[in-house]
Amino acid sequence: MSKPATALHTVTERSARDNVRLIDRRNSRGDSDDEHAALVDGLFASPAVISPKYFYDDIGCTLFEAICSLPEYYPTRTERAILTTHRDAIVQAVGTGGQFVDLGAGDCAKAALLLPALHARRYVAVDIAAAAIEPALSRLTPVFPQVELMGVVTDFSRRFDLGGAIDSGPVTFFYPGSSIGNFAPEEARNLLRRVRDLCGPESGLLIGVDTKKEKARLDAAYNDALGVTAAFNLNVLHHVNTLADCDFTPAGFAHVAFYEPIKGRVEMHLESRYLQRVRIGKRERVFVQGERIHTENSYKFSPGEFANLLRSAGFTELRVWQDDAGDFAVFYAS
Ligand code: AVJ
Repeated sequence: MSKPATALHTVTERSARDNVRLIDRRNSRGDSDDEHAALVDGLFASPAVISPKYFYDDIGCTLFEAICSLPEYYPTRTERAILTTHRDAIVQAVGTGGQFVDLGAGDCAKAALLLPALHARRYVAVDIAAAAIEPALSRLTPVFPQVELMGVVTDFSRRFDLGGAIDSGPVTFFYPGSSIGNFAPEEARNLLRRVRDLCGPESGLLIGVDTKKEKARLDAAYNDALGVTAAFNLNVLHHVNTLADCDFTPAGFAHVAFYEPIKGRVEMHLESRYLQRVRIGKRERVFVQGERIHTENSYKFSPGEFANLLRSAGFTELRVWQDDAGDFAVFYAS
């Protein structure tokens, strides 16, 4: 059944196999018309740019999960260790029995660490990729029969619309993994403000951020020896081929990733290996040898810098937990 390409609709599905409610806030193309226009504009811009949200098609989600297990990619395991080591203090700060909203839930693995101690009455997994949260919520159903499990498929970086998934009771927003680093500081502040505006009494934000550190370690984290991050970066071209009717050849591009200490961010690019013409819809774009497509920024913060960002977004009470090496930080802001 096809639906109008422009109008946003809400689809609520209840699959027979499980009891998970899934609210789909994307339109039927999975991409609104202005998002499609923005994607094409980015491909024709100089330098060309592709938003990192396009990494997460089915293959991209699988590759990202693989990245999280790589020896060089320390953030995931470091954050997990912080959440485990300081679980009691974190649960004490957050409070129990409320609603838990997992922003960019992916495979829901990090939330699953906290849910038993949180005694949340409702868990809402929010992600741009239905492919990730559907199976994850199905896995959680038998483990947390007492929790109301819900999924919301949406791009919350564009519109913070949870489709009525939460009520006015206490809510904890959970934004792990340093995904906030994908946004430039000004955009990050706006997103944090929108979360702050949804926080009533006894509500807050539990958020993980990667810290600034030696360039060699950051460079290695985004240039793993197995080439998984390279595959993750190149795969965005497959996804863009489907979304915008293009004929990118991933093998024609090289993965480039490096820490830019002055800007405080890791940048990922795809560099054209030779002069090539790429069809983009009905048009064509030339990429000269060495020309780059910018695919991701991943901002890193000192704990002090991030505390200032949270305060500038309107949060007043801050707590922070770190690993002994200070490689990662988990904040609770309310
Ligand atoms: C999911 C945005 C936090 O920036 O480290 C991993 C994505 N990119 N390796 C990050 C990513 C390359 C990741 N975030």
